[in-house]
Amino acid sequence: MSAKRSSSKKSNKDVKSRIIDGLIDAYWKEMETVQSYVAASHNLDGVDAEPIKKALAGDVMEEVGHAQQLANRIRVLGGVVPGSMSFKPSQKNLQPPKDSTDVVAIIKGVIEAENDGIDGYMKLIRLCDGVDYGTQDLCIALMTDEENHRREFEGFLKQYKKR
Ligand SMILES: [Fe+2]
Ligand SMILES: [Fe+2]
Repeated sequence: MSAKRSSSKKSNKDVKSRIIDGLIDAYWKEMETVQSYVAASHNLDGVDAEPIKKALAGDVMEEVGHAQQLANRIRVLGGVVPGSMSFKPSQKNLQPPKDSTDVVAIIKGVIEAENDGIDGYMKLIRLCDGVDYGTQDLCIALMTDEENHRREFEGFLKQYKKR
């Protein structure tokens, strides 16, 4: 095998392991989103909170589905879906607000979490280009779902800021 061919094989391997790492990262983000949305959909109080609680409760199942699709892809690529002991939380702004009627704090936290997810998928989409179209296709679909979630909560923010 020529040196050139062997080095391109090596760099493909590097890209593959970076893709698996990116998928694991995305998997944890989805799992944390599930935790945060379940909590927020129960912790908020007041009339203003009702549509937000309903939207978050609905998104939970979609985020679980995302995590399952990522887990499947990690296995397809030969990776291992990590266990709960390696989970590291990062969604500081989705913790229960001091004031349980502070709906805006949660709306902003959701937009931030969706942006974070979108950024991660965007990086994966670029990384996969020309290398792994199956993962790229999955990440495009998941990113589109997160864009829809973000749009919905941006709409909520617009309305709630007026109050
Ligand atoms: Fe998601
Ligand atoms: Fe989402």
